Amino acid sequence: MEKLMIAGGYPLKGTVRISGAKNSAVALIPATILADSPVTIEGLPDISDVQILKGLLEEIGGSVDFADNDMTVDPSSMISMPLPNGKVKKLRASYYLMGAMLGRFKKAVIGLPGGCHLGPRPIDQHIKGFEALGASVTNEQGAIYLRADELKGARIYLDVVSVGATINIMLAAVRAKGKTIIENAAKEPEIIDVATLLTNMGAKIKGAGTDVIRIEGVDQLHGCRHTIIPDRIEAGTYLILGAAAGEGILIDNVIPQHLESLIAKLREMGVNIEAGDDQIFVSPAEKMKAVDIKTLVYPGFPTDLQQPFTSLLTGAEGTSMVTDTIYGARFKHIDELRRMNASIKVEGRSAIINGPIRLQGAKVKASDLRAGAALVIAGLKAEGITEVTGLEHIDRGYSHLVEKLNGLGATIWRENLTKEEMEQMKNA
Ligand code: EPU
Repeated sequence: MEKLMIAGGYPLKGTVRISGAKNSAVALIPATILADSPVTIEGLPDISDVQILKGLLEEIGGSVDFADNDMTVDPSSMISMPLPNGKVKKLRASYYLMGAMLGRFKKAVIGLPGGCHLGPRPIDQHIKGFEALGASVTNEQGAIYLRADELKGARIYLDVVSVGATINIMLAAVRAKGKTIIENAAKEPEIIDVATLLTNMGAKIKGAGTDVIRIEGVDQLHGCRHTIIPDRIEAGTYLILGAAAGEGILIDNVIPQHLESLIAKLREMGVNIEAGDDQIFVSPAEKMKAVDIKTLVYPGFPTDLQQPFTSLLTGAEGTSMVTDTIYGARFKHIDELRRMNASIKVEGRSAIINGPIRLQGAKVKASDLRAGAALVIAGLKAEGITEVTGLEHIDRGYSHLVEKLNGLGATIWRENLTKEEMEQMKNA
């Protein structure tokens, strides 16, 4: 096991290229199950979630070739093998195997998903959708059993706007008989990306990116090539880093429209942003003003950037408030930021941050993926050395993080945990 070592205080500048979107990748890969000939996805990120999904497709009989960020999946010899345990528990997005396997085989057994611990993360809306399409869904010893004689299109109103449920119902419905209408659907760019792949495979989908998605079921789907969208959360993380510890960073391969809420907030703080077609240049404010943010579904401020943004706010002048309306308990990074001298208190779903504070390097632990990004940003602007453990969370979502940061002039490296640290981790 490794930890991340960061020597803080070096000003960062240069160009960073953004990888393919993690939250698209984890849905696009399972979506290939629905085809009957090879599908190629170009530009996937080098992250552990992608490797785990590759292994899961191989477990069910798929042939997968993954090199230079492009993955070709031949799904023709896949079978509906039960996956109650093992790799499925390692990532939240393994729930997309439910929709995709149900859509193709009319049956699936998938262990309840793992992933980041952000408080309760139910999947009742996914199940409501599968049942509306005619599947029986039962929970037996920690695995979800899905069976249907036939899937029939239905009108499904989501009680909660959910990215996962919207995509999972799309996956199950594209090969169902007749018309499915998903109302109160989520509108995130990743949903459009998945709909684009499915459409290239021959599916009939209208309205992805709006809150009503209409799907006309087809009997079969075929192979195709698809290029993934850039990762708006990775791009947002580097934008925040550029504001916190940069001297002018150019973010390349980004869709600026996907980050409008973040860009607006950064500008409100006084940060300089110039957005082009597929690039954004960021340089710090002379004096950063405190702001309040509230996370919302897209196109509101993304919950996935709330934690990194909190690290930035420690350097702003005045009191800021961060409220997470999506995951009210996504605050495990706060105790760690406090170890680094931040002045933050948590009240209910909000964190209240007083600044500006000079952060100090410390030994901290990433409890989840975006908490990890928050601590890396804090470490890069802090005085002295910061050690971040819990690297396995960061590796789930940030492609070549160390190389990209060193390319910007950071001093950051991976080190093996000492025996003592391993013991401490085991007992924690
Ligand atoms: N919810 C329900 N019932 C459901 C589904 C969701 O009550 O059946 C609630 C959740 O508890 C949450 C809200 O609805 O309060 C939104 O959850 P959503 O289903 O949209 O989240 P998700 O699909 O499980 C994806 C991303 C998350 C991101 C959220 C919100 C993937 C694999 N994950 O999760 O990404 O935070 O949408 O935008 O796409 C991350 O990248 O760090 C990450 C956690």
